[in-house]
Amino acid sequence: MKTITLPRFNDMHVHFRLGQMLKNVAPVTASYCSRAVVMPNTLPRPILNADDVIWYRDEINRALEDAGVSLGHFTPLMTIKIRDDTTPKMIHSAVYAGGAIAGKVYPKGVTTNSGNGLTSFKGIGKTLSKMEDSGMVLLLHGELDLERTIQSEWEAAFLPQLEWLSANFPNLGIVLEHVSSAEAVQAVLDLPDNVAATITVHHLVLTENDVIGTKIRPHNACRPMPKDFTDRDLLLEMAMSGNPKFFLGSDSAPHHRRSKECAEGACGIYTAPILPSLLAETFEEHGALDKLEAFTSRNGAVFYDLPLGGEFFPAETIMLVEDPWMVPDEVDGIVPFMAGQTMCYKLA
Ligand code: NCD
Ligand code: ZN
Repeated sequence: MKTITLPRFNDMHVHFRLGQMLKNVAPVTASYCSRAVVMPNTLPRPILNADDVIWYRDEINRALEDAGVSLGHFTPLMTIKIRDDTTPKMIHSAVYAGGAIAGKVYPKGVTTNSGNGLTSFKGIGKTLSKMEDSGMVLLLHGELDLERTIQSEWEAAFLPQLEWLSANFPNLGIVLEHVSSAEAVQAVLDLPDNVAATITVHHLVLTENDVIGTKIRPHNACRPMPKDFTDRDLLLEMAMSGNPKFFLGSDSAPHHRRSKECAEGACGIYTAPILPSLLAETFEEHGALDKLEAFTSRNGAVFYDLPLGGEFFPAETIMLVEDPWMVPDEVDGIVPFMAGQTMCYKLA
């Protein structure tokens, strides 16, 4: 039986939510990750300051403990939401009292729970300088819904802002999250080394046809939307290149089935249950299994200046075995990515 052994993953962008959903989804990610960057767009309590960070970390650790996950093998990396009202003082305490490592900007209105997102980067210049000084990474949901701009162009519409940020805050670590288009990949390649990008597994396998082709598939809908074949080709090339600017951020974003299958369905794909299996399959199909480790377990840690850790200890590795299994139609009320399809690798 074929096996693949890898260091535990670093998932540099994941949604754990709150309440029962947190209890259901966090243990899944913790079963194969050594760390994950946890997004702050939670409801009813968004993560905005040091107190929120401390509270949310406790909630996550309690959910993991209740599920019997050994906390020695998994660390949630905490983030805050950067809004118009985020002050330099809030950055200082989020970093030094809360231990937050990153601040996330959602431009107003472009994705799930971004109704009170940022309206202007220029308005928070001092806050961004404070982030730069305190080593807090800026995470960008890189989409802008400019007037008379079709949604497939929202990512391209954001790129001038990325370039402005990079030019004005040269020491700020910046991650363009869930990059989806060739233009955005090129912008990240053209900017200095402190600008990187996360790539999801769903953007490596889907195109827009899988969301709004001959069928409408709400469980493949996410922001940013998967794009054209040429965009996907370039994302695959980057993920498999070993280039340290590109690393895994699954954007695993669970929503209840009822919130997806309705008149105004939520965007977000729950990929956590199949992430290692689908990545292994995808890299293998392209003859790039030797590049998987850099993408899942190395480049992200290096960008965030985190220790690579004891990948030589068995507890710090995961093993995938070739053992076909069918992705369930539903887990805990959530339809996982690739539901009903067969995966060839299973997490041992
Ligand atoms: C995310 C969510 O559901 O929270 N949705 C998504 O489509 N990716 C938010 C986000 O990361 O944009
Ligand atoms: Zn996300």
